Amino acid sequence: MSAATPNPKTETERGDRVFTGNLGVPPPLPRASREAAEQLMKDGRLFRYAETGEGAPEAAALEEEFAAYMGARYCVAVNSCGCALFLALRAAGVAPGGRVLVNAFTLAPAPGAIAHAGAEPVLVDIDENLAIDLKDLREKARTSRAKHLLLSHMRGHVADLDAVAEICAEAGLTLVEDCAHTTGARWNGRPTGRFGVAGCFSGQSYKHLNGGEGGLIVTDDPDLAARVTLMSGSYMLYAQHRARPGLDVFERWRLETPNFSMRMNGLTAAILRPQLAELDTRVRRWREIHARVAVRLAGSPRIRLPQTPEAAYLAPTSIQFTLEGLDAEEIAEVIARTAQRGVPIKWFGAEAPVGFTSRPDHWRYIAGAHTPPRAAAILARLCDVRLPLQLTDAECDLIGDIVADAAGTPGAAARNPA
Ligand SMILES: Cc1ncc(COP(=O)(O)O)c(C=O)c1O
Repeated sequence: MSAATPNPKTETERGDRVFTGNLGVPPPLPRASREAAEQLMKDGRLFRYAETGEGAPEAAALEEEFAAYMGARYCVAVNSCGCALFLALRAAGVAPGGRVLVNAFTLAPAPGAIAHAGAEPVLVDIDENLAIDLKDLREKARTSRAKHLLLSHMRGHVADLDAVAEICAEAGLTLVEDCAHTTGARWNGRPTGRFGVAGCFSGQSYKHLNGGEGGLIVTDDPDLAARVTLMSGSYMLYAQHRARPGLDVFERWRLETPNFSMRMNGLTAAILRPQLAELDTRVRRWREIHARVAVRLAGSPRIRLPQTPEAAYLAPTSIQFTLEGLDAEEIAEVIARTAQRGVPIKWFGAEAPVGFTSRPDHWRYIAGAHTPPRAAAILARLCDVRLPLQLTDAECDLIGDIVADAAGTPGAAARNPA
């Protein structure tokens, strides 16, 4: 298998090897996903509920299967992880005017979900391994008046989740986990998304399960599950859910819960279900891909890789590293050199947000938007390369070599000046 190949040149003019694949293309969907989608399109019943008779079972079945995979009592399927975060926060009690702690290394949908709930994000600093800084979390839990923590396991890096849960319990913080990058990942054997009141997952194309768009919320809390179901847009058809609490719980909420129309449709669920069955195998391959690229990067004294705690079993779909001893101009040059050789690097230090990548000081809707000090120093040097699942071992080696080569060695001009 090889990444899709739009780039015909195999060497630069200087004779350096070029990666000819496309890191921005996910692998094809499994045959079972395509067949399930086709079957559903023949029926035409793409809406997840049925007004009369049996509902289309795909979304309800996906919820049941995902809940079982996660060891959760309840699951609700919605149309993105961003809206899953919003719904979970809102059902967990976030209200307009409230404050929500969120780690500063994340992407725009996390603070966006807080803003969507009418609340204000309060940024918590990160440590050198890209996880939330526990000391700053303790401090802000004490001083911010926030009642909730939205913990974003950004790019798959996880903090000591036992410690986070303990801090939240001590400080009276309700924890919601953003697991957009950790589907299939664990801490001490326990899936991420199971350390707080709710865990939110993504079915967006670049994530572990490709539904184009999609979100899944897991929880053991019956009231949160019922409220999220009603808010997601179940109308009074919620009995068609299978991974749901008893109907008596819905009775408590059904007349006082707004419908935000954020349901997952049957087609997305049909595409996702066969991929869930393959998730653990995919994660194993992604770990191999990441480890293989990491070995090559570790060969460069200019590159620092974040350390993964022993208790973490990650599910990486990309690789992060900092470029050490280079100023912003030199980092931009390294990135230009890898781009010439077919490897696009995303850079959190860029002045303006580009593509998916932005950082807290770009989010001006946050009062006094600024990146906390340690995060600012780290993000200024932080680079990110997407690693699609279809990469071959040889492609992983080549990508790692191209980046390490472009980074050059300290005290010398980079080996491949543009
Ligand atoms: C850290 C993080 N959280 C949440 C999301 C939201 O996911 P979705 O695109 O499914 O809304 C993303 C999307 O890329 C993300 O990177």
